[in-house]
Amino acid sequence: MIGIVLAGGSGTRLAPLTFLANKHALPLGNVPMIHHAIDLLAKIGITRAIMVCGDSDAAKFMRYLKDGAAFGVSLSYTYQDRPGGIAEALSLCRAFAGGDKAFVILADNGVQYVDTLARAVRELGHTDQWRQAAVFTTRVEHPEHYGVVKLDDQGSVKAILEKPKNPPSHLAVTGFYLYPPDVFDILSTLVPSQRGELEITDVNNYYLRDGRLSMYELDGFWWDAGESLEQYQAMHQYVLEYGANHWQHPEPGL
Ligand code: TTP
Repeated sequence: MIGIVLAGGSGTRLAPLTFLANKHALPLGNVPMIHHAIDLLAKIGITRAIMVCGDSDAAKFMRYLKDGAAFGVSLSYTYQDRPGGIAEALSLCRAFAGGDKAFVILADNGVQYVDTLARAVRELGHTDQWRQAAVFTTRVEHPEHYGVVKLDDQGSVKAILEKPKNPPSHLAVTGFYLYPPDVFDILSTLVPSQRGELEITDVNNYYLRDGRLSMYELDGFWWDAGESLEQYQAMHQYVLEYGANHWQHPEPGL
C-alpha cells in the first residue's frame, strides 16, 4: 500500500493567512500542518508515499520533509499545476502507485486517534482484498455542511449525499480514503463538475454503485483545518494542547 498526500489546492478559506503561505505550511501545534499528515502515514504502517504539491511553496515542503527518512517514510513528490480538484490531484500519482493500493489523505485533515485508520490499512491493505475501497466517517453536529452517509438496515453504505438539506445521518465523510489499484482507471473517466473540478465524491459513488465501498467510523476527534479561519485557529490551539495522531489503545503490531 502506498500513501498519497494531497497538499495542492488554493486555501482561499484561510485567507489572508494563505496570501503569504501555503495552507499546509501554516503551524498546527508546534509544527507545520503537513508534518501531521506524514506522521500519520508512518503511524499506520505506510512506508512509501507521494505528496502532491501546488503553488510556489513546493520547494519549502521538500526542505522541511526531505526524503521522509526522519518519519520512516520514503517520500516522493509531484506537482499539480493548477487546483483542478482533489480527484485531479490524485490522478497525478498513477505512475508512482505502480498498481498498488492507495491510502489517500487530504493534508489539512487530522485526527486525535489513528487506531481506525491503522485497522483499515491492515484489513484492506495487507490482505488479498484487491477490489475494495473505503471511506472514513465521523459524527458531526451539522451534517448538512458535509458529504453525508446514508446506511441501510445492515449498516452498509447506501448513498453519499453532498450537503443534504435533510441529512439521513450524522456521519460525515472525512478526507481519508482507501482505494484499490483500479482507482486510476476510474479517475481517467471523470468529467469536471460545475465548479470545474474533478470530484472525489464521483470516485466514491462509483465504488458504491459497484458494491465495493466499505465504511469505517473514526474514533475520537477529527478536523478539517482548512474549513475556516476560526476552525484553523481552534485546531491550532487544540493540537498545541493535546497533540495529534495518538493511539487510543495500545499500538497493535503492524
Ligand atoms: P479543499 O480544502 O477542498 O480546497 P483548497 O485547499 O483549495 O481550499 P479552499 O477551498 O479554501 O480554496 O482541499 C482539501 C485538500 O485537498 C487540501 O488539503 C489540498 C488538497 N487539494 C489538492 O491537492 N488539489 C486540489 O486541486 C484541491 C482543490 C485540493
